[in-house]
Amino acid sequence: MKISTKTLPIAKVRGTTGAPVTIRGWIYRKRSSGGKAFAVIRDVTGTIQCVIDKAKIGEKEWEAMDKAYLESSVLVRGTARKDERAPGGVELDVDDLMIIHSGEQFPITEYQSAEFLLDVRHLWLRSQKMVNVMKARSHIFGYAREFLDKNRFFEITPPLLTAAGGETGASMFEVQYFDQKVYLTESSQLYAEAMVPALERVYSFAPSYRAEKSRTTKHLTEYWHLEPEAAFFDNKKNMQFQEKLVSHIANRLGKIDDEIVKYFEIKPEDLMKIKPPFKRLTYEKALEVLGEKGDKKEWGADFGVEDERLLTEEEGAPIFVYNWPKEIKPFYMPINPKDDRTVLCADMLAPRGHGEIIGGSQRVWKMEELMERLEEVEKTQGVKFDRSKYSWWIDLRRYGSVPHSGFGMGMERVIKWLLNLDHIRDAIPFPRLINRVSP
Ligand code: 4AD
Ligand code: MG
Repeated sequence: MKISTKTLPIAKVRGTTGAPVTIRGWIYRKRSSGGKAFAVIRDVTGTIQCVIDKAKIGEKEWEAMDKAYLESSVLVRGTARKDERAPGGVELDVDDLMIIHSGEQFPITEYQSAEFLLDVRHLWLRSQKMVNVMKARSHIFGYAREFLDKNRFFEITPPLLTAAGGETGASMFEVQYFDQKVYLTESSQLYAEAMVPALERVYSFAPSYRAEKSRTTKHLTEYWHLEPEAAFFDNKKNMQFQEKLVSHIANRLGKIDDEIVKYFEIKPEDLMKIKPPFKRLTYEKALEVLGEKGDKKEWGADFGVEDERLLTEEEGAPIFVYNWPKEIKPFYMPINPKDDRTVLCADMLAPRGHGEIIGGSQRVWKMEELMERLEEVEKTQGVKFDRSKYSWWIDLRRYGSVPHSGFGMGMERVIKWLLNLDHIRDAIPFPRLINRVSP
């Protein structure tokens, strides 16, 4: 056999019973008894059980298969035969095989600790769970882009190294940049805002970095951040757009990805039920709801994991909590003209305790108001903004400024919620956590 032999994806073998086919993939499981061996081969499309008869294939091939480790790469030629008992309903009777690479004993066996699986993440990515997460992740990224493209948003590419920083209040990673200190970006929002007068509707899809020492199931130090920004959107339109985007992603997943959805034991009909409008609670109302559930909080308190869980425990779709107290939100959010204790913003909370998946707001677009907000935030939140580092962004309020809004969606949070994962680290191939930057 030759590596260049034309092969068929395993998922397509089912329809070929009786005719010889060649597949290629990796040995997923293997056992032998007497002169017979059974090997489950996987490729990206699925798995199939191959039946190898010592008497039928050559001595050399038999030995190679016998010695091959799990995860060896192989080329197998055979004929599919219907078998009700086999997973997928067919088995492959093998005529010939070639071990492409047998390698060494695969270090992952059953029942290994989560820490060990993170140590060998580069290998664990081959597991059925991670394969399904990564397929879903790729599709979910695509569904988001599809929706934004359809709505005439341009994708932009922001810098990840930045001199300004600190707008969201999150801690940032410092980077030595020749003889000055710069940061890894915490959000591309300010750059997206700069591109609004040029392209009107933009989105950046890039990593954001947070040096938060939060050891929770929903914090990464590096995550993929989808940040749309649009001219002439107010907070209301911003929220309507968000719920349409999130519904689109959930509905596409429910409609297209049966295998993935089945693997994670999610009901497609639950995904299809996610439709606008989402429930909206003002911050004030949310406080009331929490109070009724015995979780009394003072005005101005931020919400934690448990509060978010209580607010969404009866929900099948995400909800908005909007118009938050200005003391706990960034300077770029404008004061609510109807209640000057609050700013025009909204957080989207996912059901079942998966927490905040989107943070967004209308933006301060007038110079005078911006200066006032900057000073106010400096006074009340104990932060200092180096105006010189923000001068380019402030400049935008000098030339043809327009009302605009935007939001940031944490893609791993969305994946964690949609696939109902226990931990955000499994929503990204190589998670960056407080104690882990490798592999
Ligand atoms: O609420 P955040 O901090 O908002 C911003 O960064 C805005 N500048 C975005 C914008 O308006 N363009 O972050 C936005 C989202 C959160 O709702 C959450 O989904 C996600 O980013 N996020 C994280 N995801 C994973 N790990 C972390 N440590 C995260 N911090 C925020
Ligand atoms: Mg937030």
